Amino acid sequence: MTPRILVTRRLPEPALARLRAAGEVDLNELDRPLNREELLARVRGASALVSLLTDTVDGAVMDAGLPSLRVIANYAVGYDNVDIAAATARRIPVTNTPGVLTEATADLAWTLILSTVRRVAEGDRVMRRGAFPGWSPLYLLGGEVTGATLGLFGLGRIGTAVARRARGFEMRIIYHDERRADAATEEALGAKIVDFDTLLAESDILSIHAPLTPATRHRFGLAEFRKMKRTAALVNTARGPIVNEPELVSALAEGLIAGAGLDVYEDEPKTSPGLAEQERAVLAPHLGSATLATRTKMAHLAVDNVLAALEGRKPPACVNPAALGE
Ligand code: GLV
Ligand code: GLV
Repeated sequence: MTPRILVTRRLPEPALARLRAAGEVDLNELDRPLNREELLARVRGASALVSLLTDTVDGAVMDAGLPSLRVIANYAVGYDNVDIAAATARRIPVTNTPGVLTEATADLAWTLILSTVRRVAEGDRVMRRGAFPGWSPLYLLGGEVTGATLGLFGLGRIGTAVARRARGFEMRIIYHDERRADAATEEALGAKIVDFDTLLAESDILSIHAPLTPATRHRFGLAEFRKMKRTAALVNTARGPIVNEPELVSALAEGLIAGAGLDVYEDEPKTSPGLAEQERAVLAPHLGSATLATRTKMAHLAVDNVLAALEGRKPPACVNPAALGE
């Protein structure tokens, strides 16, 4: 029987073509995510589910897809939208797209670092309003990036790629991670591991590169912002709920920190009340991996994962090998 492959949103065409060669592709052609009922209905009888970070894939969705469902291929490196324990209990492998989006996401983190610290978005709004008063010595002064201390919350693939770029800005690099990097990596990056409070206290720019887990949810709130420098900038290209967003709005309003560059939000696509009014926040609409080349590579990796699972091979990026009995 030809396997049916549910793809919850249109992906770059070359990867879709590979899926069409392997089965019947049930593609959501709508210009929005499937709602819960639609997802439950369409996963029924599917052999593979290609899901997005905007889809909540829990035990009920998996049960709707069983017994035919053989793989959940999430089109993202983060997989907090998928209930991994539920998938493992049902012996369904879940896959993600690591590696291929590392550089694009690091580039976007740097876009936010520079535009936040140097107040470029604020300046752009001034120009568009025709409100530029002309050059003056104390006008729209930002912080210094070159030579500053960059603090990384998480030194995985993306944190490491951000640190590599920071070398060119002659920065001091500190990081906090549950797992210490090996000595060679620390030395190549010039990165020093510190405890969480030191990361807060010493970072001029603090950039988040950790997955969303119960341990990282709301890891940054008012108590943490109070421990940061009043001149510091917070950058988040990971997952919104790692930061308590209403408390970030308060911290910006009270001047506890100087700025924030955000690509992700607690309740996407919404933003917390007051965030959009904060001049010192630079707000990007979840663009971390948003280049054609990267999104195409992500799609090919998601397809590699699907095809492997359907052919009874181990998917190249399986996040719950226990589901395969390993
Ligand atoms: C995007 O946010 C991803 O996790 O790939
Ligand atoms: C995600 O790809 C990470 O390891 O940072």
